[in-house]
Amino acid sequence: MAKMIVAGNWKMNASKETVAALLKGLKQGALAVKNAQLVVFPPFPYLAQTQIELADTRIAIGVQNICAADNGAYTGEVSLAMAKEFGVSYVLVGHSERRALYAEGDAQVALKFMATQAMQITPILCVGETLEQREQGLTISVVTGQIQAVIDAAGGASFANAVVAYEPVWAIGTGLTASPAQAQEVHQAIRAHLERVAPEQAAGLKILYGGSVTASSAQELFAQADIDGGLVGGASLQADSFLAIGQAAK
Ligand code: 13P
Repeated sequence: MAKMIVAGNWKMNASKETVAALLKGLKQGALAVKNAQLVVFPPFPYLAQTQIELADTRIAIGVQNICAADNGAYTGEVSLAMAKEFGVSYVLVGHSERRALYAEGDAQVALKFMATQAMQITPILCVGETLEQREQGLTISVVTGQIQAVIDAAGGASFANAVVAYEPVWAIGTGLTASPAQAQEVHQAIRAHLERVAPEQAAGLKILYGGSVTASSAQELFAQADIDGGLVGGASLQADSFLAIGQAAK
């Protein structure tokens, strides 16, 4: 079985000082993480620092957002070519905070997904339902709908070079974690959905769980059949807790 991915989304939490301390801790502890590919997602201004510090490690680098356009008059945006110059190999697309706070819809998410793949970078497509949607029994239809929007635009075969992250919106930053069984149910549904359109890609697709993952919840989550790692927010800001989640990967 291929390695798990344990990814740390720092969101908008960083300073030169905290980044230096975090990267130092990750460098020192990364070798103890045997069964997971670690990936960090710093804010853009810290990409160069991250690339330099992690140069002789096996920790990969990602970005939290990207512009789908190549270059030109897009004030405030960052292109894939720029990210690539800093060693970026993963891009988060469709994070629920981008969907909710910056009105990114399925169409824009699909464009970013395709542009990322066109640069030989792996998109991590984030999907997840709100609490209201869960309470209305819409979880599976919302999540598979978000996946289907990308399948419609990019085709099922595109998932050969993609990762999916299931992040229930109600579990992000709230301390509420989906139970291992709740998460497994959705992960299985995502894989089954892809299986219908792209059977060859479905089995190998990595599906990460995100939402208040901690070192203590990771082990049981990662033991689920369709959970292939984690997308970690708060607990990725300290080297110790992030590395401990990495070590929970089996
Ligand atoms: P938390 O781990 O802080 O809940 O964040 C999850 C997340 O949104 C990662 O992308």
